[in-house]
Amino acid sequence: MAHRKLRKTPELPSHQHDVTQVSDTQHLRGMNRPPSNPVFQETGYDPASSVYDMEYEESTGSELDFWMNESQKFGSRVLEFAVGTGRIAIPLARHGFQVFGVDSSQRMIDQARRKKSLLPSPVQQRLSFKHGRMEQYQVDLVFDLAFVGFNSYLLLPDKESRIDTLRNASRHVRPGGAVAVDVFAAVPLDAEPDHEEVEFIEHEPATGLRVTRERFYSHNRELNRGQSTLVYRFYENQVMVGERRLGYSLALVSRDDVVSEFTDAGLDIDGIYGSYERDPWKPDSPILIVVGRNSSVDT
Ligand SMILES: C[S@@+](CC[C@H](N)C(=O)[O-])C[C@H]1O[C@@H](n2cnc3c(N)ncnc32)[C@H](O)[C@@H]1O
Repeated sequence: MAHRKLRKTPELPSHQHDVTQVSDTQHLRGMNRPPSNPVFQETGYDPASSVYDMEYEESTGSELDFWMNESQKFGSRVLEFAVGTGRIAIPLARHGFQVFGVDSSQRMIDQARRKKSLLPSPVQQRLSFKHGRMEQYQVDLVFDLAFVGFNSYLLLPDKESRIDTLRNASRHVRPGGAVAVDVFAAVPLDAEPDHEEVEFIEHEPATGLRVTRERFYSHNRELNRGQSTLVYRFYENQVMVGERRLGYSLALVSRDDVVSEFTDAGLDIDGIYGSYERDPWKPDSPILIVVGRNSSVDT
């Protein structure tokens, strides 16, 4: 995911944490000394492909309801940018929507395709996963709704690429269709460094290895981005047999920044919400969802 620091999205279930086993391992490995923040490096999501689905279960509840209602409102053809392993796309397809997903990580797409191959054939036929960047990906199809979920819009490197992405999404949407993003509006706490202790995540299904995660967070003042380094460690019994690092940064933006990016991309604002239940956005809302309409006239 692209989770922000400290305030985890409450709606998203995560797995039970087996802290006892981890602290045993820490003692064995001598890792229970104060951690030093590793040098931050953007890695893309390839290193996360095998752990992502252990961290984040398939979308259910209010998040899925929101995207289903939004899809129903505008039509059944959905384009999801930054689709990842299909966490939202797959349940949408199960519910009858036609979902076309694009992601810049080949390994995340490979994982999405593997999951697709296990689904009943009618659901498979409603799903496509393609490798590409959301700022520029082109396909000769028309959609009713295009969206970027789960903070992924904030992974884009700068304001220009965010506006390019909204314009690109809008170009793929029919007149009257919608473009939406689900992000968070930054608060002062997002500029504070942070460290999350080692936590047990789960046993990796393919290997049975025990997987832990440790997270380091820092704020890049110059770029105004929150930088996360997630260190995944793999254990066979008590012995560490592998380590993988995921480094990503999220733009720290305000509600007004996001709204003006929609306007700059030529979209008319349709809704600004602070929850998946469509509560109006307030400065202390945990999330920020902006929905814009492509108001161009069909020629
Ligand atoms: C937090 S994951 C979200 C995946 C999925 N939407 C979900 O809800 O689980 C972020 C995804 O954004 C993708 N991503 C980052 N930058 C991208 C870009 N410029 N174009 C397309 N995908 C991108 C990453 O590869 C990663 O799979």
